[in-house]
Amino acid sequence: MLRKRVAILISGRGSNMAALIAAASDPSYPAAITLVVSNRADAAGLIRAETAGIATRVIDHKPFGKDRAAFERALDDKLSAVRIDFICLAGFMRLLTPWFVAKWEGRMINIHPALLPAFKGLDTHTRALAAGVKLHGASVHFVTAETDSGPLIVQAAVPVRDADTPDTLAARVLAAEHRIYPLALRWLAEGRLTVVGGRCKLAEADNRNAMLISPHG
Ligand code: GRF
Repeated sequence: MLRKRVAILISGRGSNMAALIAAASDPSYPAAITLVVSNRADAAGLIRAETAGIATRVIDHKPFGKDRAAFERALDDKLSAVRIDFICLAGFMRLLTPWFVAKWEGRMINIHPALLPAFKGLDTHTRALAAGVKLHGASVHFVTAETDSGPLIVQAAVPVRDADTPDTLAARVLAAEHRIYPLALRWLAEGRLTVVGGRCKLAEADNRNAMLISPHG
């Protein structure tokens, strides 16, 4: 089996990155983590990646100033140089231009800590608590030009408890994130995902897999 070559883009602690690296450490997993790129030299995830023996690269966005396109060209050059098939965004805190998104359309996925389309953007756990929702969760989706809006690949729901704080809720959601991101990348690398009319379908499988509910969170 020729494993797909994956780059993970991070900006911070990299726990989802670590979950993907752990999954890909199984030789039967259809993707290999070829490269981790961070736009911040101080991202804790870089050390985790290096410890796991994964190649890392810092491409700092700051020298590019407001020129997002130039930053992305540098990023894209690096990804092309190592023949990346797929990109996983994992806590990557840069907005991407339509050029970059179009270039990687169908080959770039992201994890978001909410049940999209609810709670796009930042501070999802605080906002979920404020809204009083009883179910919260995480979503993996294809990246499209509009932030947090691409076709959904898999979602996991967790309960919201009365005593939750943003931190306790975040921890419960994060555990779910670590379960669904490797699942989504597996399906992508296996070529089992198709997008028709903005909806992502999973081929040749029981697609109830695409919804995980964790009653005990
Ligand atoms: C996660 O909650 C992810 O859903 C969001 O950013 C956070 C990154 O955490 N996009 P980590 O760096 O993967 O630990």
